[in-house]
Amino acid sequence: MLARFIFSGAALISLFAAQSLAAERIIVSPDGDIVLTVSDDGGRAAYKVDFRDSQVVAPSRLGLLFKDTHGFDRGLEIAGSETTSADETWEQPWGERRFVRDHHNELAVEFVSTDGPQRRMTVRFRVFDDGVGFRYEVDKQKLFGKSVSITDELTQFAVGTGVTAWWIPSGEFNRYEYIYEQSPAGDVQDAHTPITFKNEDGVHLSIHEAALVDYSGMSLQRQRPGTFKASLSLRSDGVRVKTSAPFVTPWRTIQISPDAKGLLNSDLILNLNEPNKLGDVSWVETDKYVGIWWAMHIRDRTWGRDGIHGATTEETKRYIDFAAEHGFIGVLVEGWNIGWDGDWFNNGALFSFTESYPDFDLKEVTGYALSKGVRLIGHHETSGDITNYESQLEDALDLYKANGVRMVKTGYVADAGQIERIDKNGIKRYEWHDGQTMVDHHLRVVKEAAKRNISINTHEPVKDTGLRRTYPNWITREGARGQEFNAWGSPPNPPEHTTILPFTRMLAGPMDFTPGIFDLEPNKRPPVREDMQRSDPRNRPQTTLAKQLALYVVLYSPIQMAADLPDNYEKRMDAFQFIKDVPTDWEESAALNGEVGDFVTLVRKARGGEDWYLGAVTDEDTRTLEISLEFLDADKSYVATIYCDGPDAHWKSNPYDIKIYEREVSAGETLRLPLAASGGAAIRFTPKATAQ
Ligand code: NOJ
Ligand code: CA
Repeated sequence: MLARFIFSGAALISLFAAQSLAAERIIVSPDGDIVLTVSDDGGRAAYKVDFRDSQVVAPSRLGLLFKDTHGFDRGLEIAGSETTSADETWEQPWGERRFVRDHHNELAVEFVSTDGPQRRMTVRFRVFDDGVGFRYEVDKQKLFGKSVSITDELTQFAVGTGVTAWWIPSGEFNRYEYIYEQSPAGDVQDAHTPITFKNEDGVHLSIHEAALVDYSGMSLQRQRPGTFKASLSLRSDGVRVKTSAPFVTPWRTIQISPDAKGLLNSDLILNLNEPNKLGDVSWVETDKYVGIWWAMHIRDRTWGRDGIHGATTEETKRYIDFAAEHGFIGVLVEGWNIGWDGDWFNNGALFSFTESYPDFDLKEVTGYALSKGVRLIGHHETSGDITNYESQLEDALDLYKANGVRMVKTGYVADAGQIERIDKNGIKRYEWHDGQTMVDHHLRVVKEAAKRNISINTHEPVKDTGLRRTYPNWITREGARGQEFNAWGSPPNPPEHTTILPFTRMLAGPMDFTPGIFDLEPNKRPPVREDMQRSDPRNRPQTTLAKQLALYVVLYSPIQMAADLPDNYEKRMDAFQFIKDVPTDWEESAALNGEVGDFVTLVRKARGGEDWYLGAVTDEDTRTLEISLEFLDADKSYVATIYCDGPDAHWKSNPYDIKIYEREVSAGETLRLPLAASGGAAIRFTPKATAQ
């Protein structure tokens, strides 16, 4: 069967338009739509990708360069290849869907040297119906000494200039926290991944990586308009990656879909990660939480005591009461530990992760929480000082474990390239958030936490590359502009932000966006104290209330925060009901429609339940979406509880106009959903027999 799709041998007329006799190998996706061709044309390893008979990635180079020895750049030929295929289904402990199908054809191509010293590498390609992945596999060989220093990766992605790109810059101070740009691919200089492209035929591509382990993160660098090269983050010792042979690189991934929504239904990144290495992970909790958090971002409270301290025993108990009353599993508390007074952004070395401020009693708070069926969610802000953090890591996690904490949010607030560490000679070194040092650091934290049945939610992280499959306690992370920018972002996230995130950042994995702000103009209120002036009142969520609800379905995370102050929820219990009801763990998920930067609709079925949920969001444009309800069970009728924009809703002038109503629906119907400017809709579908 497979043989039909795989051809090998010398091609007289090379697909790579060269004069020489080049060897080629071809591998095709199970459905036949994607054709990947590998060549050694001109002595260089290269690949190209066609989708439905059109080229989507033009011939692009492959290769690696090393510091102390010859690279895999030129003088290479294909020495052999092997093909296999797989079709298996695996189960996720938690996720967007319970069962994931991994159906691919694989081609492993061995390149050997034709000149210079003997060297060999394998490039392994996997071609799925939803895209391709490939990685370098390098054996132990004479070429290398004890360690191998990679100075460059030559991988190219030639997507062409005629495609539109959605992207954020790489190498700039704010890590991944930028407003997305939309531009011709030819105008993109340096960009983080996932980066998403759309061509004239409506075909969408997204370039990213999977299984980033013991390597530096890859961003894309323009080589010529529309042709990008892998740019590996630098280590402080000047090389890009330090490893030893044998080694494998992360997978370079290109998700491919005939339309935008297909990207959202792809499991390619997870399929290219290793299975769960932690064994029984039934202790990993998914659910919703509240926290002493937004209060600091809108300057009602402060992290330290140089203002109005947020993390006091009394205040935390108030949040615990609220969580217990409304069914939240956790209360995040930031600012309880010593180190927050003054300029905490720049004082990472001062954080103690075990000592609390005198007005916060950890034992009392956690005991009180547990007595009410709630757990404290721990917080470790490092301000980017990983030496200070690592020196306390085990004690800090032990302390949390002893107090019933099951989840810790970590933070690495520091400019990109300014992660601090002291090396073994006592010299201060600066690292990148996506460099190999941080890739290693995060896994160390995740593994130490796993030993104590603790899950990790990383802020200012390295990007997600699907490692949640291997380490299911790496539960979520930030890694994009989240809600916090709406408190002080100047400018805040524009209306289209959450219509781009699903097609870019979210392709990497879950995000702790922290939705659910109900007071949409927090900075209009007078300051709580003269010395705590609020941010510019134009900083606000640029959404309607209904859109805040829709985000719980649109932006997947297995833990979701109800981010606003309890008082604001108490004023809108009708809308709050959706946040109380919506699950965070799913049996199935599907994108029904969408265009990058315009709108998107997702539906998800509750894990272990019968209810479906829908979230739809639009950018600054009003629009009416026609939603076919064919995803519902055909033999049931449902009560739909609909939370949608009212007739006068508009994010700027009338964000609170929301219509909440019930309607009986069934699978054969089409629902018309009018969305206001930067509006949204959130729906719960409950089978009628069980509706309460
Ligand atoms: C930045 C994080 O994104 C935010 O959630 C947190 O409150 C602050 N750092 C303080 O740790
Ligand atoms: Ca942040």
